[in-house]
Amino acid sequence: MSKLTILRYPDPRLHTIARPVTEVDDRIRRLVDGMFEAMYAAEGVGLAATQVDVHERVIVIDTSDKRDDQLVLINPELVLISDEQVLSEEGCLSVPTVYDKVLRPARVRVHALGREGERVEFDAEGLLGKCVQHEMDHLVGKVFVEYLSPLKRNRIKTKMLKQARDEGR
Ligand code: NI
Repeated sequence: MSKLTILRYPDPRLHTIARPVTEVDDRIRRLVDGMFEAMYAAEGVGLAATQVDVHERVIVIDTSDKRDDQLVLINPELVLISDEQVLSEEGCLSVPTVYDKVLRPARVRVHALGREGERVEFDAEGLLGKCVQHEMDHLVGKVFVEYLSPLKRNRIKTKMLKQARDEGR
């Protein structure tokens, strides 16, 4: 698969709602491999297919320090979320150089399919919990800056548009 380009906020395509994957086949596995490649190249910990302009429910994550612990989530669902919430800092490969705090449930239980179509179930908290929720937001067209105030969001929009101009994108 040719190199995937990561869409940048405020690209309207980031607000597309992804459809479920109907079959985990070689086409999806090629997408997954391309997404890992793009994510590692950008030094990210997670990437949703939405961010590479593919609107299917596919997420890749690697929160390990050694960058050798790949997690693939296809058609992910949160089946439990904790009442307890935590405020912690987030960033996004679609909003480079911007970091801000977002309040989210502290723990979630995730059901999904893996790279080979196998069932995957796990509980997540901390960095992984935050990452899963952040990436699942992308699949419904939501970027983390939408949790921030309209004032902050407008500043970020302006900064991103300027960055794109400066880079000639
Ligand atoms: Ni993101």
